Amino acid sequence: MNLKNKVVIITGAGSGIGAATAKLFGTHGAIVVVSDIHLENALNTASQIVAAGGKAEAIQTDVTQFDAVGALISKTVATYGQLDVMVNNAGIGGKQQLKTAEHTHDDWHNVIAVNQTGVFYCMKVALQQMTAQGHGNIVNVASLAGLKASGNNLSYSASKYAVVGMTKSAALEYGRKKIRINAVCPGFTNSALLNQLLASSPTIEEKIKHMIPMGRFGEADEIAEAICWLASDSSKFVTGQTITLDGGTSL
Ligand SMILES: NC(=O)c1ccc[n+]([C@@H]2O[C@H](COP(=O)([O-])OP(=O)(O)OC[C@H]3O[C@@H](n4cnc5c(N)ncnc54)[C@H](O)[C@@H]3O)[C@@H](O)[C@H]2O)c1
Repeated sequence: MNLKNKVVIITGAGSGIGAATAKLFGTHGAIVVVSDIHLENALNTASQIVAAGGKAEAIQTDVTQFDAVGALISKTVATYGQLDVMVNNAGIGGKQQLKTAEHTHDDWHNVIAVNQTGVFYCMKVALQQMTAQGHGNIVNVASLAGLKASGNNLSYSASKYAVVGMTKSAALEYGRKKIRINAVCPGFTNSALLNQLLASSPTIEEKIKHMIPMGRFGEADEIAEAICWLASDSSKFVTGQTITLDGGTSL
């Protein structure tokens, strides 16, 4: 997998899957722009990459703000000359797990803003740059919840189905421009986001593990491996696809 000197932006890279992905890109010699709404966490990921001998910088970005996304990408291009890979990973879950009739307006607006509109903004600006430079690669972090029904989770489900749809539709548009666009669909994966779900009920962890044929949660670095593969030339005939990493849950 050759990612040496590729200029890569990862959103939401201050923790979980984004942080693991940033570190794996760093190990492969990429120039990693670690972006997160929480600057301290982004700085922490970037300094771990640098301490391990890699190249990284941290830039604070809230993906719900179109101007901030524009600034992230233009600053990256001004510094490094191009944008080879954009990993749209930033995401949140709803605060409350409630059926659709009780789903709160707050959860709806917040989750859609980050998970759906944020991915649209990042794809829109990244694709302008990638079209201008004549190549590019986008990996979106969707979810198993973007492929299968999931209860008490309407905004998250809507946003992740949207990410899968945006991935496929944009891949169709940009295939001839040497720009590939794919998505990963993780199942339950150890992270702050999963911990928030597990905290919602004392029995939920056991119930979820019962649904996973492999009997365990995924690890962030297992998802990172697939993201790096999609971002590399090792997958050079793959576009508009989703890779499900769920320990067999979808079976
Ligand atoms: N953990 C799972 O079980 C799981 C399963 C499927 C998909 N996912 C997806 O993986 C992605 C990463 O989640 P994670 O599990 O690593 O959770 P996480 O909470 O550890 O990481 C999410 C990161 O996104 C950042 N973020 C939140 N809002 C942001 C905003 N407006 N702008 C920029 N950054 C923002 C957070 O600060 C955090 O660093 C998300 O898109 C999530 O939906 C996670």
